[in-house]
Amino acid sequence: MAIKTLQQGGQEFYLRMTTVTASELQLQDHRFNRTKLVGIVVGCTIFIILISVFGLIFCIRSKKVKESETNYWKDKGKKDEIDLPIFSFLNISNATDNFSENNKLGQGGFGPVYKGIFPDGQEIAVKRLSKNSGQGLDELKNEVMLIAKLQHRNLVKLLGCSIQQDEKLLVYEFMPNRSLDYFIFDSTRRTLLGWTKRFEIIDGIARGLLYLHQDSRLKIIHRDLKTSNVLLDNNMNPKISDFGMARTFGLDQDEANTNRVMGTYGYMPPEYAVHGSFSVKSDVFSFGVIVLEIISGRKNRGFCDPHNHLNLLGHAWRLWIEERPVELMDDSMHNFDSPSEIIRYIHIGLLCVQQRPEDRPNMSSVVLMLNGEKLLPEPSQPGFYTGRDNSTFIESSSRNCDAYSLNEMSNSLFEAR
Ligand SMILES: *[C@@H]1O[C@H](CO)[C@@H](O)[C@H](O)[C@H]1NC(C)=O
Ligand SMILES: *[C@@H]1O[C@H](CO)[C@@H](O)[C@H](O)[C@H]1NC(C)=O
Ligand SMILES: *[C@@H]1O[C@H](CO)[C@@H](O)[C@H](O)[C@H]1NC(C)=O
Ligand SMILES: *[C@@H]1O[C@H](CO)[C@@H](O)[C@H](O)[C@H]1NC(C)=O
Ligand SMILES: *[C@@H]1O[C@H](CO)[C@@H](O)[C@H](O)[C@H]1NC(C)=O
Ligand SMILES: *[C@@H]1O[C@H](CO)[C@@H](O)[C@H](O)[C@H]1NC(C)=O
Repeated sequence: MAIKTLQQGGQEFYLRMTTVTASELQLQDHRFNRTKLVGIVVGCTIFIILISVFGLIFCIRSKKVKESETNYWKDKGKKDEIDLPIFSFLNISNATDNFSENNKLGQGGFGPVYKGIFPDGQEIAVKRLSKNSGQGLDELKNEVMLIAKLQHRNLVKLLGCSIQQDEKLLVYEFMPNRSLDYFIFDSTRRTLLGWTKRFEIIDGIARGLLYLHQDSRLKIIHRDLKTSNVLLDNNMNPKISDFGMARTFGLDQDEANTNRVMGTYGYMPPEYAVHGSFSVKSDVFSFGVIVLEIISGRKNRGFCDPHNHLNLLGHAWRLWIEERPVELMDDSMHNFDSPSEIIRYIHIGLLCVQQRPEDRPNMSSVVLMLNGEKLLPEPSQPGFYTGRDNSTFIESSSRNCDAYSLNEMSNSLFEAR
């Protein structure tokens, strides 16, 4: 009995305990739910508040950025309007004889270029950006903003522009002697350019580039330097043109990357063609290619030395290490008394096209070298890039160039900007 009672009591106790425990548990559970709920609510509230605060900050900031950007453009616009005349479309249309075929000078990267004459007799070159180039307006702004600020005798001068609805026009000073490629790659016309003139042209391009890189108020990478972008004035002085792809760098910025590799095959350094990385040293590479092209009268792109299957850079390098660099010089120009000057220019050209960007001299060094600095470092192997199928690789100078000529078609995609 006692046990039973005890049992009963125990049972009762137990039961009570369980009930108590259960209700306590329930209570705890309830409390737990409540704290959880409160926690969640508080958490959510804080979260929402934080999100809103961040959102608000972000909105204000991006609005500010946008505003400052538009103000920036407005200010620029205002400033440039003072410097840069805006022409009416009709005036330019009239000056170019309604953009007639007869007045067409050539086809630039972003559209055709026409010759025009204003009623006062001033000759102009008008770049008419194609409506479907897709990149028109940005490149136009880019070019206008950059070039309006640049003044140098070796840079082509922008006289004004015209933007009316779909029509975007850039008006430049007219260059009567076209561009460098028109002369140096033509078997008869290149004889018009004697060595002294060629050296002057190289020196002029170097000074224009030096100005772009460090002497102007900005640090500008041209990114599409090539013989067809070097125009020639009345006296055959070179002027660098076509700033549609140029990039401005911060003064302390050394290199940048792009996913959209645009440029011209044959002038692009390997690190840009393969990795999209560009710096002042990419322009130096293009400059080196131009130097070797001017000396040899040959295009880097499309040149294939028949005996060793090398492209122009490989050919120049082979002649250099075999200590007969003079053979690189233009066949039509063999009558030259002192080849040491030519060798010097070849030497400088080879220094500029070295494979590693850090080995290439900067333009201030190049200008010093061109001006006769005595001690030039030995160049190392040039870097040049050849596409084969979809793979890109850096050529060693011993590689052959069959693939190079075969793949000109696919590689010209790079050119179709
Ligand atoms: C533009 O055309 C107007 C007449 O429509 C003329 O008065 C003006 O001189 C022209 N300006 C230029 C630069 O051609
Ligand atoms: C159009 O061009 C002609 C010369 O080609 C000039 O005489 C005339 O004034 C120009 N008209 C305008 C409106 O600019
Ligand atoms: C200019 O060319 C456009 C289209 O080619 C034509 O519609 C227009 O009438 C021409 N204007 C003049 C003045 O010839
Ligand atoms: C360059 O242009 C000027 C002016 O048009 C001309 O007199 C000269 O003959 C040209 N030079 C060459 C090499 O074509
Ligand atoms: C150019 O290179 C020379 C020699 O390496 C160096 O002394 C000079 O500081 C460089 N200039 C610039 C602007 O980087
Ligand atoms: C071409 O690209 C594809 C995919 O990116 C790759 O699998 C293939 O190996 C490449 N071909 C060559 C010849 O490199």
